[in-house]
Amino acid sequence: MSRVVVTGWVPQPALDTLRAAGHAVDVWEGGGTIPRDTLLDRVCGAAGLVTLVTERVDAELLDAAGDGLRVVANVAVGYDNVDVDACRRRGVVATNTPGVLTGATADLAMALILMTTRRLGEAERLVRSGREWQWGMGMMLGSGLQDRTLGVVGLGGIGAATARRARAFGMSVVYTGRRDAPPEVTEELGATRLPLPELLEASHVVSLHVPHTPQTHHLVGAEQLRLLGPSSYLVNTARGPVVDEAALVTALERGEVAGAGLDVYEHEPAVHPGLMERDDVVLLPHVGSATVETRTAMAGLAADNVLAVLAGREAPTPVA
Ligand code: GLV
Repeated sequence: MSRVVVTGWVPQPALDTLRAAGHAVDVWEGGGTIPRDTLLDRVCGAAGLVTLVTERVDAELLDAAGDGLRVVANVAVGYDNVDVDACRRRGVVATNTPGVLTGATADLAMALILMTTRRLGEAERLVRSGREWQWGMGMMLGSGLQDRTLGVVGLGGIGAATARRARAFGMSVVYTGRRDAPPEVTEELGATRLPLPELLEASHVVSLHVPHTPQTHHLVGAEQLRLLGPSSYLVNTARGPVVDEAALVTALERGEVAGAGLDVYEHEPAVHPGLMERDDVVLLPHVGSATVETRTAMAGLAADNVLAVLAGREAPTPVA
């Protein structure tokens, strides 16, 4: 029997799976994010960790766990919270949960595209405010998507699924990425690859779908926002630090971009104060994959990864 530490609430079936395999499962049930000191104590002697995006998995944590640690299963597709090299150096397998959250996250990106271009957050706030309103020809006019271009930054699984949804709304698709996407994907989407500056100039909405790495940190800053232009929108369901948030605030203030839809933040959970009062931004609390089905599948896949490694088998979804 091995000890597996789960750093916060996850759907029950994942815990049942781990326990059915005979592991002692220790779940943080304190609500919210586990305090760092508690986490460092808890992991001591664990063979497996199931971690959430709110935990920093670094050398300190791995050392606190000790030599018996064999697997860190992050319940997310993104793993910028995990020091993968530090895991590798200690022979710890790091895994993530790709695939199972693709549809839910693409749904949310599409929702943000619609919310932002149709001013839906602002419209909802108007009704709730109790202020008087009346239907009017010129009231709350947004911008349509038909015959417009979606620029997808990172045409992986989630980027392609978002593009598929946008196509159903009459948009055409361009993308940028380090390499060509598979031909069956680009043919299906009719998507051409452009360098980032050209994509920004060509797009009515740009949706970000890249991981946060040193190469993508502040990929969208002042210069890129200027290229996007005053009638175009930015949507980010990837990771906050891919966007220079201060530059985004300045661009919005100057009218250099039309609006933004954000599910993630540079200093999450803090939100730049300059974004808070603006009606031309939609702000969501990192809920890209937050459906019962998807979160159950994510936790289940993390449990499968733990079970495989502890049984001496290959993990189903090790990080690249
Ligand atoms: C959530 O943010 C994820 O990376 O899965």
